[in-house]
Amino acid sequence: MDDYIQIKHSQIDFYHKIPLFHKTEENEYLLYKEKGEPIAESRVKTHTHPPLFILTNDKRAAAKELQEALNIDLAREIASKGMKTVKVILGRIVKEALEDPCPATLDALPETIEIFFAGYAKNSELLKAMAIVASGSSLIVDHTVNVLAITMRFCFCDQLGEDRSKKIGLAALLHDIGTSEISKTILEAQRKLTDAEFDTYKTHPLKGYEIITGCGTFDPMAAEVALEHHERIDGSGYPMSATNLSFESQLIGLINSYEPLTYRDKDFRKARSPFDSLQLIKQEVLGGKFDKRIFRDLCSCMTS
Ligand SMILES: [Fe+2]
Ligand SMILES: [Fe+2]
Repeated sequence: MDDYIQIKHSQIDFYHKIPLFHKTEENEYLLYKEKGEPIAESRVKTHTHPPLFILTNDKRAAAKELQEALNIDLAREIASKGMKTVKVILGRIVKEALEDPCPATLDALPETIEIFFAGYAKNSELLKAMAIVASGSSLIVDHTVNVLAITMRFCFCDQLGEDRSKKIGLAALLHDIGTSEISKTILEAQRKLTDAEFDTYKTHPLKGYEIITGCGTFDPMAAEVALEHHERIDGSGYPMSATNLSFESQLIGLINSYEPLTYRDKDFRKARSPFDSLQLIKQEVLGGKFDKRIFRDLCSCMTS
C-alpha cells in the first residue's frame, strides 16, 4: 500500500510536476490533481482545497519542485525590490533545507545565491537595507537569512569578486545546516541552556560538516565554514579549539556573533543598533578572538 504525507496549504500551488491526493471520509486516498498539471489558480486563491497529500515516494521530487519554485519567486521579488518579501522567501528556502537537508533541497541553494547575487549586483542599496532591517523572529531560519544578507553585503563592500562572493554566500547559507539535527527545544529555548543541552548544541558544526561533505556537490570551503564558524583565533572556540582558521571561517564566524546582537537579544532586551553591536564585538576583537582587519572591514561596511 502507498504511503501519503500531508502538505502545507501554503505550498499547494507550487506542486505542478507531482500528483496530489485528497482523503475521503472512508480514509481512502483519491487523485486530486494529475501529475504535470498546475492546480487551478482560482481555487488556490479562494482556499477551497481540502487537506492534500503527496505520495511518500514523491517526497524528494516535491522538495525539489518546491525549492525551484521558491527560487523563481525570489527572483521575481528581488526584481520588484520587495525587500521584506525577499527575506520571507529566503526564509522559506532555508527552512525547507533545514527541515530535510537532502540533495533535493540543498541542490537548489547555489541557484538561490545566483539569483541573490544577480539581483543585488544591480541594486546595492537594496542589499544594504536588507542587511540592516531585522526580520523579527528568533528562529535559526531568520538568523541564517540575516547572516547571508550581511555576508553578501560584506563581499560587495570588500569587492571580493563574483565567484568568490557566491561561494562565500553559499557557505553563509549552509553554515548552520547542522542544527537540522538538533532538537527544537534546544534551538528555540528562550532561556539559558543547561550544560548538557549546550554540549548537544555544540555538535552542530561537525554535523553540518558531515551533511555538506556528504552531498559531494559543494565547495569544500562551505563544509569548512560549517565546521569552524564557532572557532576563535585565540583557541577559545569549539568544537576543536582550532586557531588556524580560513578567512571565510573567520568572516562568517564574526558575522555569526554579530547578527544576534543586532537583531535580538537572548535576555529579551531591546535589539541593538549596528553601531552598538559592533562596539560589543570590539571587546572580543581586542581580546584576540577575531581578526582585527576583518572586523574593521565589517564596521565600515555596516556603518557606511
Ligand atoms: Fe552555529
Ligand atoms: Fe549561526
